Amino acid sequence: MRQYWSGASFMLLTFVVLAGCTKEEGPLYVPEPTPPGEPVDSAFFSTEVLPIFTAHCWTCHPDMANLDLSAVGAYASLVGVTSNNYAPSLRVTPGDPMASVLWHKISGLGTYGLTMPPSGATLSAAELQTIRDWIEQGARDN
Ligand code: HEC
Repeated sequence: MRQYWSGASFMLLTFVVLAGCTKEEGPLYVPEPTPPGEPVDSAFFSTEVLPIFTAHCWTCHPDMANLDLSAVGAYASLVGVTSNNYAPSLRVTPGDPMASVLWHKISGLGTYGLTMPPSGATLSAAELQTIRDWIEQGARDN
């Protein structure tokens, strides 16, 4: 009896894991909340967030939509700045990803037009989590 049940739960687990891997519904990314008591992994703008922009965004955003995602201009172009196309929403509201156009644009929520980047590979789950953590932790210029 014991054996039967552990076999059955293993099958169920395998199914859940496999089902979780099929990404048919597009890039919508729902982050895992940090379990209580677990240390928060702090995200750094200069060493973690900026390299993502440089790799995936900067080709179009030295100035597209009046958004500068270069190493020099990104912070000043994002944090507390009113969106160009989606005013009066802010591009980044420190501490609040859901009130940040940037988060909506990269996570596939579809709230504000195209998901970024609009072509090529979308951001990985780890990259999305880094940007989300950075916003949640106050969007500091660290
Ligand atoms: C192939 C070109 C291209 C790439 C690469 C690209 N974008 Fe965009 N982006 C656009 C265009 C075009 C718009 C304007 C249309 C829109 O809002 O969807 C835009 C708009 C935006 C906006 C809204 C700006 C505003 O205030 O109106 C944000 C935020 C943004 N992009 C973030 C990003 C991020 C972050 C990346 C990298 C992960 C990225 N984009 C990569 C072309 C691009």
